[in-house]
Amino acid sequence: MRDGWYYVGMQTLREVIEEARDAHRGIGHFNVSDSNQLNAVVEASKNTSLPVIIGASEGERKFFGVKALAAVVASIKAQMDRTYLNADHTYSFELVKEAIDAGFDAVIFDGSHLSMEENIAQTRAAVAYARASGRDVLVEGEIGRIGTSSKLLDKAPEDIDTELTTPDDAARFVRETGVDLLAPAVGTMHGRLKSGPMPRINAQRIEEIREAAGVPLVLHGGSGSTDEDFVAAVKAGISIVHINTDIRIAYRKGIEAGLSKDADEIAPYRFLQPGVDGVRAETERYLKLFALK
Ligand code: G3H
Ligand code: ZN
Repeated sequence: MRDGWYYVGMQTLREVIEEARDAHRGIGHFNVSDSNQLNAVVEASKNTSLPVIIGASEGERKFFGVKALAAVVASIKAQMDRTYLNADHTYSFELVKEAIDAGFDAVIFDGSHLSMEENIAQTRAAVAYARASGRDVLVEGEIGRIGTSSKLLDKAPEDIDTELTTPDDAARFVRETGVDLLAPAVGTMHGRLKSGPMPRINAQRIEEIREAAGVPLVLHGGSGSTDEDFVAAVKAGISIVHINTDIRIAYRKGIEAGLSKDADEIAPYRFLQPGVDGVRAETERYLKLFALK
């Protein structure tokens, strides 16, 4: 059954991303550390009838349990199509293997801190392992440094590149690695400044990289960008947008409110509920924004 871009039925992650790219719409990718956040994100997807990608970085996977997370998402998928699982920012081949073996739909090998040559060599190995898995596991590669932490920052980290990814580097990286998805540096950074304006997204550069790379593009470090910049980025060619810091803020704020409401409340499902509600609301808003709904 189809309702414009909003398809209901079995679709692979590759198909959903290709459809989003063709329709110039974006899919939301939200990081989770525990089952409360996971449930909130899944509920947001259900409420909006939009596909969603659940992301878990190395630390988040360790906290949740790699196999446990894969198993929970597999059981959700059985009831709700278009819920996908991504192993976010993975820095070693060993952990790429672990995520693919556990059943993740996609994995990011993040070699952005390496030289271009080394990044290409290691990303290529991740692609080869995914291709040999017998499943259609998508591999994303990353070039250009945009920081590493989804946290509140006093100032922009020093290890981020001020230079944006060039279309030539993007084309070379995709050609030599065979990645399915590319995360370039186009102005964003991981985390959110406690005060002051966040960097702007360069939509013009996104368009140029999209032309040169020929694979769907992923925007990392979404939290803190303006709605206007997100819309421009999606229209210019971003197919997936990553949000983590804003989800973490919503979760913490909600839990704090839940705890302060009643100092004698000890039932976790009561004092945690406002945290879940906050994550769901934030996710719904972003899902609709990225889908230009
Ligand atoms: O991979 C995760 C993201 O890029 C999240 O970035 O914490 O700035 O939203 P963010
Ligand atoms: Zn990221």
